[in-house]
Formats: sequence, C-alpha cells, structure tokens
Amino acid sequence: MIHVHPFLYFCRGNALRQGSAWRGSRATAALLLVTVSVFVAALWLYVTSLDSDVTETLVSQAEFVSPQPRVYNIQCSEDYNNYKRYPGCTPQKCGRAVIDAVVSREEAQSLKRLAERGLALAGSEGGASILDLHSGALSMGKQFVNIYRYFGDHIGDVFTEEDFQLYRAVRGRIQAVIADTFGLDPKLMYLTKPTFFSRINSTTAKTQHDEYWHPHIDKVTYGSFDYTSLLYLSDYGSDFSGGRFIFMDQDSNSTVEPRAGRVSFFSSGSENIHRVEKVTWGTRYAITVSFTCDPEYAISDPALH
Ligand SMILES: *[C@@H]1O[C@H](CO)[C@@H](O)[C@H](O)[C@H]1NC(C)=O
Ligand SMILES: *[C@@H]1O[C@H](CO)[C@@H](O)[C@H](O)[C@H]1NC(C)=O
Repeated sequence: MIHVHPFLYFCRGNALRQGSAWRGSRATAALLLVTVSVFVAALWLYVTSLDSDVTETLVSQAEFVSPQPRVYNIQCSEDYNNYKRYPGCTPQKCGRAVIDAVVSREEAQSLKRLAERGLALAGSEGGASILDLHSGALSMGKQFVNIYRYFGDHIGDVFTEEDFQLYRAVRGRIQAVIADTFGLDPKLMYLTKPTFFSRINSTTAKTQHDEYWHPHIDKVTYGSFDYTSLLYLSDYGSDFSGGRFIFMDQDSNSTVEPRAGRVSFFSSGSENIHRVEKVTWGTRYAITVSFTCDPEYAISDPALH
C-alpha cells in the first residue's frame, strides 16, 4: 500500500486550490476593469452632454422635418430700428425654423466633398477652419489666404463648374424658403458676407478665429445680416459629437441638432442670440448662408475666377 504523506497531499491540494483561486481573481479583475471602463465612458459621455446647459431640443438629428419647415415665432428685437428699413425684407416677423426637405442628403454629401477638397488645401492650426468661396478666404495656420490668388489656375483642378452650380442652386432654394416663411419678397433679399463653409473638430483653439463657441448676435457682429441660415453637411451623433446649435433665451437653451441636408434659419437680431457647443469628437461640416435687406451689402454668387 502506498501512503501518500499527508503533508504532501495537503500541499498539492492547496496548490490546486490556489491555482483556481488565482484564475478566478484574474477573471474578476478583468470584469471589474470592463465595468469601470464602461462606467467611466458613460460618465464622460454624460458630462460632455451636460457641458452645454441644453434645456430643450427643438429638432433632434433623427427627425426629418418635411415638407414644411417647423417654425418657432418670436417677437422681433429692436435691433432692426437702428438700421434703414427695407419694406418687403426687413424682419416684421421674427423667429427660427428648421427644414430637411430643401437640400437632399446626396446634395449635402456633394457639398461636403467640395468643402473637404477646398479645406484640404490648407486649414487652421486650431480646430475651426473656414472656406469662403465668394471672397476666396481660406484658413491657413493662424491666418487666412485667398484661394483664388494663392492657388491661381490650380483652383480649376479642385472645384468644378458643377460644384458652383450646386452651391448656387442650394442657396437659391434656401433664400426661397426663408422668404416664404417670413413673408418676404425673395427678390428684395440679397446674399451677404460672410457666407462660408466651416469645418470644426475638437483640436484646441490657437487663435480667436478658432473660438466659434461664444454666444453672439449676428446683427451685432455683422451689421448687414438680417437673416442667417445654416446648412448642415454632417450628422450629430455619428459624424461628430458636441457641436449642437443653441438658441439662448432668458429661461431656456434650446438646440437644433445638426443633420446632413438640414437647413436651420432665423432672423439675425438679438431675439436669436446663439452659440455652438464645442465639438468633442469627429468633424462637423456646415455652410453659413447669410442674407441682407440692404442692396449695398449684396455679394454675388461665387464663380470659377
Ligand atoms: C483636426 O483637424 C486638423 C486639420 O485637419 C488635424 O490636423 C487634426 O489632427 C484634427 N484633430 C483631431 C482631434 O481630429
Ligand atoms: C444656458 O446656457 C448658459 C451657458 O452655458 C448658462 O449660463 C445658462 O444658465 C443656461 N440657461 C438655462 C436656463 O439653463
């Protein structure tokens, strides 16, 4: 009969138990790590979503507002009294509106590609770059260059005549829906500057030009503005996060979530003070299209120079 020394037996058994206990605690540690990571990620998303003090969502990314715009009427501010009045154009009805039926997602995609090609020529060192096809202004490092002068004949390799046709067609449709919504004569409103493409990501601002998030009033910042519109070229939530547009009222911060092809427009006075949330990840593309009632501030559509 073979006797196993009790001590040896004890030692082996203990080693076995220790081994499984060690594997067990490794699994527990892994589970704990995953749980903690998920919790931290959720907390981070929650904290970044709180960043903006948003109290109300006027239109979410998932909604599709068609065929008529969703309109929120508000009383006009007195800002317009400081300027010459143009009957048929100067705001008498003020408000905000959103529509997804004016620009298709395919058109938004084409315009986004146009923006990508143009902005690929240079771009800001900070997170916010602009391209203005009218003036030719393009962010470069800490300043701007004129693409038509700087790149000369090569610009024809970057933009095509069809790009400009699409841009003109889209701005015409935006003008028509603004006129229709506010009861204006579209022939008495004019495109004005700045009208530009913007590309924003989460890179830290390097100059004031990169600081897009400050609250502002378009009519105060640019005296010529009477109606401001934004055409979004990418989707909140899937292409980028943060970057929501926020109307700041006395008792609320209401947001319009960007959606590719969505047009958001509003009267430019202090009834519509607004800001844009900081982009937290991804890249946000949009076009700002501005209108004035004063023919002196009219600009013409861009064309290949
Ligand atoms: C933001 O865009 C700039 C310019 O394209 C790029 O250099 C930078 O890496 C981007 N930052 C992030 C966080 O994606
Ligand atoms: C709106 O947002 C601003 C800036 O984040 C904040 O100071 C203000 O308290 C917010 N208003 C409301 C009603 O939540």
